[in-house]
Amino acid sequence: MSDIAKLQIGDNSYEFPLVKGTENEVAIDIKKLRVVTNGIITIDPGFKNTGSCESAITFLDGEKGILRYRGYPIEELAEKADFLEVSYALIFGNLPTKQELDKFHADIKEHSLVDDDVRKILEAFPKAAHPMGVLASLTSALTAFNPSSVNTASKEDMYHAIVRILAKFPVLVGWTMRKSKGLHLNYGKKSLGYVENILYLMFKQPNEEYVMNPIIKDALDKLLILHGDHEQNCSTSTVRIAGSSHVGLFASLSTGISALWGPLHGGANQAVLEMLEAIQADGGDTKKYMAKAKDKNDPFRLMGFGHRVYKNFDPRAKIIKKAADEVLNDLGVDDPILKIAKGLEQEALNEPYFVERKLYPNVDFYSGIIYRAMGIPTDMFTVMFALGRLPGWIAQWREMRLNKEPIGRPRQIYIGETERHFVELDKR
Ligand code: SDX
Repeated sequence: MSDIAKLQIGDNSYEFPLVKGTENEVAIDIKKLRVVTNGIITIDPGFKNTGSCESAITFLDGEKGILRYRGYPIEELAEKADFLEVSYALIFGNLPTKQELDKFHADIKEHSLVDDDVRKILEAFPKAAHPMGVLASLTSALTAFNPSSVNTASKEDMYHAIVRILAKFPVLVGWTMRKSKGLHLNYGKKSLGYVENILYLMFKQPNEEYVMNPIIKDALDKLLILHGDHEQNCSTSTVRIAGSSHVGLFASLSTGISALWGPLHGGANQAVLEMLEAIQADGGDTKKYMAKAKDKNDPFRLMGFGHRVYKNFDPRAKIIKKAADEVLNDLGVDDPILKIAKGLEQEALNEPYFVERKLYPNVDFYSGIIYRAMGIPTDMFTVMFALGRLPGWIAQWREMRLNKEPIGRPRQIYIGETERHFVELDKR
């Protein structure tokens, strides 16, 4: 293939360089398009055909169902790694040595207290507030209590902001859940591992010792790893474009939490459980919901199915489906919802509407079943997604800043009124 693209517009022809990635993806570099064509731009709602950046963090191939973080296959990381070392690899580029990992964890532990005034902000929220809205607010509020986190001109400054948010975010997650359940707040335990501490923050009861269940700890490690990053998805693109204005890391992350909350994105894991419970309440009538999903006049979508990029099985869904069987079996949980999910999956995989549109189960289809078995409330499922995606957002924000990328500012094609003049009120 030549290394240029030719564009013919009317009598004019233009040439643009091609960019090729390490996995042989090819893009047309149109940085000079508007200048050389005297104003012509491209348009691509939803950016289905548009790359926003060159990135070295995550590679995925939607046709082949491949997902790798920093070149490491997701299947190997889910099987062999723990969440903290995967977070290190996503953010800094390679799996850490033991010394690097120990120092990273020690630096995180050093900042694991959250200012008591943040607790007062939390207490001002109604108990029924959705945890994602609370989390987005508290994450942005953290800037006020860590003003130095805004200075991220140097790698050292960035590192200080990164370890602070990795330390405090799990506390906010634990607080958000406990607030919604009317439980006292706690601050974790420094002697615990990173994921053990998350479980402790969420589930420690004031009147008894917390007994760590290795099955649950391993399941959470795997789930958080599987949510770690996913290249330029909706919430990550939001973090990158917010961060491109040089607002601080915490405020950028807060925008990502809000974007993830949507039911078409991370909010789908909660919507899947609610859909499965509705089908269960309906006597398990999956055919009715399949018909609704196919009906163009019905806004209902089969939640947990379909994906902007994967036109094959989401590799994460395969791993989570297997883990769901194992975790529920190990915990001795017989959840009829799992049976309904599997029935729905089989029906969809044989339904022409879904087959023609290449709609397969995505990461959200089975994850909620495991969270539920772990005792996590349904409205906390997307918070768990955010907890997993935190290192990915941080890595993408850091890459954007280190690459000194320009402020994000897309163009548009105006289709409104042409010039017209003001009319006095009594003449309208
Ligand atoms: C995540 O991007 C990422 O990487 C995201 C994510 C990550 O890790 O960050 O992977 C996490 O967000 C996973 C997706 C979770 N969302 C859901 O499960 C919600 C249900 N799925 C859909 O809403 C939808 O599939 C999207 C939003 C995920 C993708 O939408 P697209 O790429 O914009 O596709 P589309 O809406 O243009 O759909 C194409 C066709 C349409 O039908 P036609 O107009 O061609 O007749 O497929 C249909 C859609 O109506 N369709 C569905 C469907 N998903 C797509 N029909 C019924 N049920 C569905 N779930």
